[in-house]
Amino acid sequence: MDAPEQKRQKADSGAVVTEEQAAEFAAKAQAEGRPRLRILTGDRTTGKLHIGHYVGSLKHRVKYQSLYDTFVLMADVQALTTHYDRPEILKQSVREVALDYMACGIEPYTGGPDDGTKAKIVVQSMVPAIADLTVYYGLLVPVRSLIDNPTVKTEAQQHGFGIKQIKVPKVLVSETYRPFVEKIKARVEAEFKELGESSLHDYYEAITEFWNQKYLIKQEDLESDAEIRLSIDVFLVMDEGNAIYKGDFFASGQMNPWEILGDLLNLPYKRKTLREIILQLKHGRDFTSMTYGFLGYPVSQAADITFVGAHLVPVGPDQVPLIELCREVVHRFNSQYGKKKRVLTSPYALLGVREALQGIDGNAKMSKSLNNAIYLSETDAEIWAKVKPAPTDPQRVRREDPGRPEVCNIFSYHKVFNGEKEAGIDEAALNVATVEEVAENCRGAKWGCVECKQHLCKKLSAILDPMRERRAEWEKRPDDLQDVLKAGTARANEEGEKTLERVRSAMHMDYFR
Ligand code: TRP
Repeated sequence: MDAPEQKRQKADSGAVVTEEQAAEFAAKAQAEGRPRLRILTGDRTTGKLHIGHYVGSLKHRVKYQSLYDTFVLMADVQALTTHYDRPEILKQSVREVALDYMACGIEPYTGGPDDGTKAKIVVQSMVPAIADLTVYYGLLVPVRSLIDNPTVKTEAQQHGFGIKQIKVPKVLVSETYRPFVEKIKARVEAEFKELGESSLHDYYEAITEFWNQKYLIKQEDLESDAEIRLSIDVFLVMDEGNAIYKGDFFASGQMNPWEILGDLLNLPYKRKTLREIILQLKHGRDFTSMTYGFLGYPVSQAADITFVGAHLVPVGPDQVPLIELCREVVHRFNSQYGKKKRVLTSPYALLGVREALQGIDGNAKMSKSLNNAIYLSETDAEIWAKVKPAPTDPQRVRREDPGRPEVCNIFSYHKVFNGEKEAGIDEAALNVATVEEVAENCRGAKWGCVECKQHLCKKLSAILDPMRERRAEWEKRPDDLQDVLKAGTARANEEGEKTLERVRSAMHMDYFR
């Protein structure tokens, strides 16, 4: 099955609806005089939001709020599942994220009767029903379905859980090899910023492990295998600064193993192997040392969604398994306690067409921890300081070299930020190149990368300027901002209490009626 086919199958899961399907449901509800369909979305409050959040979700929320009754959850408790040791960042983040919402054009509910046309902004930790429901739902969720959940798995691995722990024999640091190891370290660290800082010793160990594990070279990856015999059984043992080789890999020639290692690391999958080893050495933690709260966050997310009876949850494909889990919880709860009554509402994942934005450094993901994000709250000067040095087509060395837009990360931004995709960008009025002109100017070496980047930044400003204005307005009114959160949270609590009452009574726990 090829990749697109796989994607299509995923999108066909019963948990998912498209924007068109959702709009049909909404129209039907309206025709039947029912209240607006309800949407719940949320963000972990671990820091300010960036333009990746904007294209991936915020701009869609702004569009959805006029069609659906919207609840936006600031998931501060969920943030704690990975940041429990840094609770102090939450308070600051809640304010920053709230300002980001206002900047993007979320129209907040500020109290009074709720006709479903304004977005309720809700602070998760201030809604006790979510915590209560989490406990009840936890009764129905087998541990296996959490451990096997693809979203949990991926995230667990990012935090070092579930990757095999390895033990390497003691390695002595040899001065002779230091320059080689330093070079490898610099290279791996530059490419995989998520690894953070490691000691040189970590790298000695990782490289030793790299050899010890007999990571064989694939024949097709070698342009010339004349000098390298492939039936290898390689050991590199560092013994008091001397390398002792065993096996027939090096037996035939006088090859410098570090040169071979350098060549090996030109192969992307070999670099990934070394990355994995370093990750294992540094962070290898057994799956069972994950906290209960971390493993269980999908249960709490099911509570986030069901406490308001959300019909739709706009998410990216990575979160779909969590919606599937939520539906499983609802199904189990209703069949266990509902006696044919639908106590809880089963949600759909609303999978719209979303742009994915790489980090400005070309890393696949834009994220705070990789330090490659452009924040909605940054000034033009701050953004230029990040865009100017950003990598472009590596083969375009001189100004007159023709460029290849298809491999250039800056071009991938031009493809996302242009007049066709963003109402706020009018190329003619801004006097900047359209996406086609960008490609042409690049291919024909009609402009340099700096000029191309300047055009991109003008387009970004066109989107960010109105956000800056709205942000500045709200920054002047911190009490009003606080009131927006209070009003949204109070409204959420009304719904939470109603849901909890239904749940308790279905579970025969309505003692004091
Ligand atoms: N898990 C989501 C994220 O990491 C945030 C979130 C928390 C959420 N609760 C939610 C998303 C409920 C949708 C519905 O981005």
